Amino acid sequence: MINTRHLFYTQNIDKQLIKTLLENFTTLLTAFASHDIKNAIHNMDGVVSQLSVDTITEDEILLIRECANRLRDSLDEFTNIGLPQDTNVIEPFEIVRLMSSISILHRHDLKYENIHYKVVYLLDKSTVISQNFHWLVQSLNNIVINSKIALRNTQDKKIQITLSCDDNSVTILISDNGIGIPPENKPKVFTAYFTTTGGSGIGLAHVANVMKQINGKVELTEEAGFTTTVKLNFPLKCDTPS
Ligand SMILES: Nc1ncnc2c1ncn2[C@@H]1O[C@H](COP(=O)(O)OP(=O)(O)O)[C@@H](O)[C@H]1O
Ligand SMILES: [Mg+2]
Repeated sequence: MINTRHLFYTQNIDKQLIKTLLENFTTLLTAFASHDIKNAIHNMDGVVSQLSVDTITEDEILLIRECANRLRDSLDEFTNIGLPQDTNVIEPFEIVRLMSSISILHRHDLKYENIHYKVVYLLDKSTVISQNFHWLVQSLNNIVINSKIALRNTQDKKIQITLSCDDNSVTILISDNGIGIPPENKPKVFTAYFTTTGGSGIGLAHVANVMKQINGKVELTEEAGFTTTVKLNFPLKCDTPS
């Protein structure tokens, strides 16, 4: 015989659990979106505060345009909170386009902060990826921002991005010779809200979330000549129906 009192109690717990999960999910999504929006505003601010209208260059206009694209995509994602599948827009693009977006977003800071930035193509630049372009820009952007922060007290500052692929997947290594991650922190860096920089602690958790969504992987690895290397590996073509 069904114990209705027990059933009622269980249903209450489930409702409470679902409510808590939904609240956490919404808080996390809100945090991700605002993190992204803050990144874009920070980049635009960097350019605008150092310029007078007469000295604006083509590069700086490109940066502002790219930031506007990021803001628009983030807001689209944000307004689609209830429909996460709809936000997974998969489009084919050449890997060089992804690198060009990252370079546009950072070239201004890289120049002013004297960071030597290098992209090593161990694959054809026209290799086509069919994935969510916006998610990948967000991910790489978060990783490069971390590198820039880690390089603040380094003399000969370097960031290197190395791209390679096999028949099915692409691997992107993002390396810097900054402060490095102490061994005891390595297991924590992909956990939401973990930070040693006074930031939000959301950047790498978001990358891990994106990689999970696209059947990819993010991990820390080692590269000769660098202190920190973040490795992304994900399918060239989206293998989950959207
Ligand atoms: N390139 C890096 N060099 C050194 N430490 C890093 C690097 N990338 C990430 N970290 C560490 O991982 C933590 C989490 O990074 P992240 O999730 O982006 O959060 P936040 O940047 O807001 O601190 C950082 O606070 C820092 O301790
Ligand atoms: Mg960060």
